[in-house]
Amino acid sequence: MADDRFHLLGVSGSLREKSRTALALRLLLDFAEEHGAETRMLDLRTIELPLYRPDGPGGSAAELRLGADMKWASGVVLASPDYHGSMSGTMKNFLDYNWEECAGKVFGYVCSSHEKGLTVMDQMRTVVRQCYGWSMPYGVSFDGRADFDSEGKLKNEKVEARLRMMAHDLVIYGALIHQQFLSDVAGSDARTFAAAYR
Ligand SMILES: Cc1cc2nc3c(=O)[nH]c(=O)nc-3n(C[C@H](O)[C@H](O)[C@H](O)COP(=O)(O)O)c2cc1C
Repeated sequence: MADDRFHLLGVSGSLREKSRTALALRLLLDFAEEHGAETRMLDLRTIELPLYRPDGPGGSAAELRLGADMKWASGVVLASPDYHGSMSGTMKNFLDYNWEECAGKVFGYVCSSHEKGLTVMDQMRTVVRQCYGWSMPYGVSFDGRADFDSEGKLKNEKVEARLRMMAHDLVIYGALIHQQFLSDVAGSDARTFAAAYR
């Protein structure tokens, strides 16, 4: 981190115009700012991101933006709608592009679902583990139809409380993990997991 503030990146994986996933994520980021975090929201509706090609040319404006945001982040929130018990293809495509910048960062999960979204959040958790990121031990799920009113205002106090809890915990635990990781990378101890990132 160039300054002392915790950098929290939120990634929203719904392309729906009236996405509730994006609204909940924005709330969470606002709550994190109350704890001193600097936040950025990467709303994938606003970025033309082609399907990931391992042998593609790379270097598009969209790719550079994603890469810069992930590098900037000291912690990340992945927010996805529940599509067939899975994360959205949009979110998976985003994650396919970004595997190098997960180490030393804590990830939180948000899911808009008519059920509980547990399998969706577990899948995002699996991707993050595979990329050596750390995960919060819980997620926040909500029902976009029942928990928001027609104006897009969150009306479920329990969901708000969980978003506030996630925001608080991400800033606190995320900063601890990230600072330790940076310190380990800067050190010379070969036994630490972070040694591979020197
Ligand atoms: C392709 C597709 C598949 C879906 N599958 C499920 C599902 O398996 N379980 C569920 O609870 N909701 C499912 N939904 C409903 C969405 O999860 C729900 O509408 C969500 O709130 C949308 O989030 P958004 O407002 O951010 O777009 C599906 C929606 C779509 C478009």
